[in-house]
Amino acid sequence: MAQRRVIYFIIRGMLFCLAIFGLWRMISVISENSYLVKEEHELKDDHVFIEIYYESMCPDSKYFIKHQLIPTIEKIPEIIDFRLIPYGKAKTIENTTGIFFTCQHRELECQGNKIHACGIKYITNRSKQLNFASCLINNIRNPQSVAESCALEVNANWDEIQKCSISMEGSELLKGYGEETHNLSPTVTFIPTVVLDKNQGHQKDILKDLLKEVCSKYSGDKPPPCL
Ligand SMILES: *[C@@H]1O[C@H](CO)[C@@H](O)[C@H](O)[C@H]1NC(C)=O
Ligand SMILES: *[C@@H]1O[C@H](CO)[C@@H](O)[C@H](O)[C@H]1NC(C)=O
Repeated sequence: MAQRRVIYFIIRGMLFCLAIFGLWRMISVISENSYLVKEEHELKDDHVFIEIYYESMCPDSKYFIKHQLIPTIEKIPEIIDFRLIPYGKAKTIENTTGIFFTCQHRELECQGNKIHACGIKYITNRSKQLNFASCLINNIRNPQSVAESCALEVNANWDEIQKCSISMEGSELLKGYGEETHNLSPTVTFIPTVVLDKNQGHQKDILKDLLKEVCSKYSGDKPPPCL
């Protein structure tokens, strides 16, 4: 009789534990799911994320920044977030001596890319950052020669940017942008390459009419320039 009672007691204890475990799993699954839902919701409602892979002496990059990127951001800043990745078709060579780059438009372009990279790091205000990049790329033949005046124009600290651009810091930044560029899939064939919400589709349409492509990506209520 006593033995039976002990067994009954043990079984009851096990059932109790099982019930608690089940309840705990249920709660965690529910909260996980609501997290997923939230994330999806945030992605949907969030800005369209534009990533611009470009290089400092490339006429097509200049054209895109001047005639597509800036006008589009001016029209619908409230739904756009962007990031500049100044590397393009450069190559990175790292050995025991240091980090070296070769660029499509030669050494001057590598130096230009570093100035872009350092400007992006030290100019945190996004609109000033874009104005700095745009000012540099406007002088496509020699970005270095206008860099100081471009920095002044956006009220940035030129000393800081220059020091970065001629030191290991600039090389490290550029190397990082290189890794990002090389890691793109599909591989970059044309510069600029413009990625919307991490998707490389519609390149031709994006280069022709960024506003239209951004508007069609945006799932929230369309702002008037999109209509
Ligand atoms: C490292 O690479 C650079 C650029 O290609 C080259 O000039 C240099 O000789 C190399 N150094 C060594 C130790 O291989
Ligand atoms: C960035 O700079 C612009 C002026 O170029 C200014 O109007 C804007 O308020 C600044 N943004 C922030 C977040 O400080």
